[in-house]
Amino acid sequence: MKAFVLEKYGAPMREVAMPVPTPGPRQVLVRMVAAGVNHADERTRAGEFKALFPLTLPRVMGGELSGEVVAVGEQVREFAVGDEVYAYTGVIAMGTFAEVVAVDVDALALKPASTDLVGAASLPVVALTAWQALVEIGHLQPGQRVLVHGGSGGVGSVAIQLAKHLGASVVTTVSAGNAEFVRELGADEVIDYRTDDFVARLAGNPVDLVLDTQGGDTTTKSLRVLRPGGTVIGIAGTPDPHLADQAGAGKLVKLALAVLSLPLRRRARKLGVSYRFLFIHPAGQALRTIAGLVDQGVLRPVVDRVLPFDETPEALKQVLAGGTRGKVVVTTRPDR
Ligand SMILES: NC(=O)c1ccc[n+]([C@@H]2O[C@H](COP(=O)([O-])OP(=O)(O)OC[C@H]3O[C@@H](n4cnc5c(N)ncnc54)[C@H](OP(=O)(O)O)[C@@H]3O)[C@@H](O)[C@H]2O)c1
Repeated sequence: MKAFVLEKYGAPMREVAMPVPTPGPRQVLVRMVAAGVNHADERTRAGEFKALFPLTLPRVMGGELSGEVVAVGEQVREFAVGDEVYAYTGVIAMGTFAEVVAVDVDALALKPASTDLVGAASLPVVALTAWQALVEIGHLQPGQRVLVHGGSGGVGSVAIQLAKHLGASVVTTVSAGNAEFVRELGADEVIDYRTDDFVARLAGNPVDLVLDTQGGDTTTKSLRVLRPGGTVIGIAGTPDPHLADQAGAGKLVKLALAVLSLPLRRRARKLGVSYRFLFIHPAGQALRTIAGLVDQGVLRPVVDRVLPFDETPEALKQVLAGGTRGKVVVTTRPDR
């Protein structure tokens, strides 16, 4: 089968021919039909995660997929050959930029019935990010106000829809050309981050939660738009000690992350708010709930463009170039 592998941190991913994997007892073999392409693929390639999540190389790249079950491990009862499934495999397992992928059963769910496999492949990373941020960490409640930075991006476009479903009102930052698009997704208030200062715009009208997709200055400034007790959940900026626990790292790494995030956490404490970093984890159970929300018409996949699987490195370049609305997906069936 064909796959795109990382042979050395920093090197471009390379197309190789390799044997079809054999599923372990609690794994499902999936013929990949579509795979979402993410900023994380570049971060993995560049070695940004290697201190916390070291990989044995070479390794097949790619974090999410949809496809058809072609075999199941001997202890798998949840899925059968022919099922159409989707998954986020995780930062260590990866492996989705391949024609056939062995996926841990706990990471998988049946894809939403109402969307095709391309739409399904666009969802796992961004929908799990929105879910784990807004529901599991943020406990977003009806009537609350949330600020979603980068509402037109992969994560932002799903987070707006999910926050509206949870009964929150949504403020979002995007460039002016995307204002109408995010309003269609449900945003109540749109701030052009290029011309407007969101701190000034929200002065006197604070939010309960911020989903920060940007990091850096945006994170620090976001602490100032929260009501007392509110939380900034960062996904692109400073990691905090929770990540060491998640990675199963030792005390030294945890201490390093505590020191790294100290200025931000200290600033948050002074303002009576808090900062949490989220690094998503695979969760088939949450993907089942998300599939239900898609089928109820609550969430719709947002796919900017679809490229043939052969062009996966080009698809990654396009993700990094920015300016996409929602996701970039590659497919092994470009003719359909
Ligand atoms: N920690 C995790 O588990 C996790 C999970 C998923 C993603 N992430 C990270 O989250 C980030 C976003 O991912 P994505 O897939 O949503 O990216 P994306 O699809 O490329 O979207 C980026 C968005 O950011 C907007 N933007 C650019 N500069 C901005 C600024 N200064 N202020 C506000 N918005 C700005 C863009 O808006 P315009 O196009 O309108 O300019 C666009 O909507 C990436 O860094 C990714 O690695 C982390």
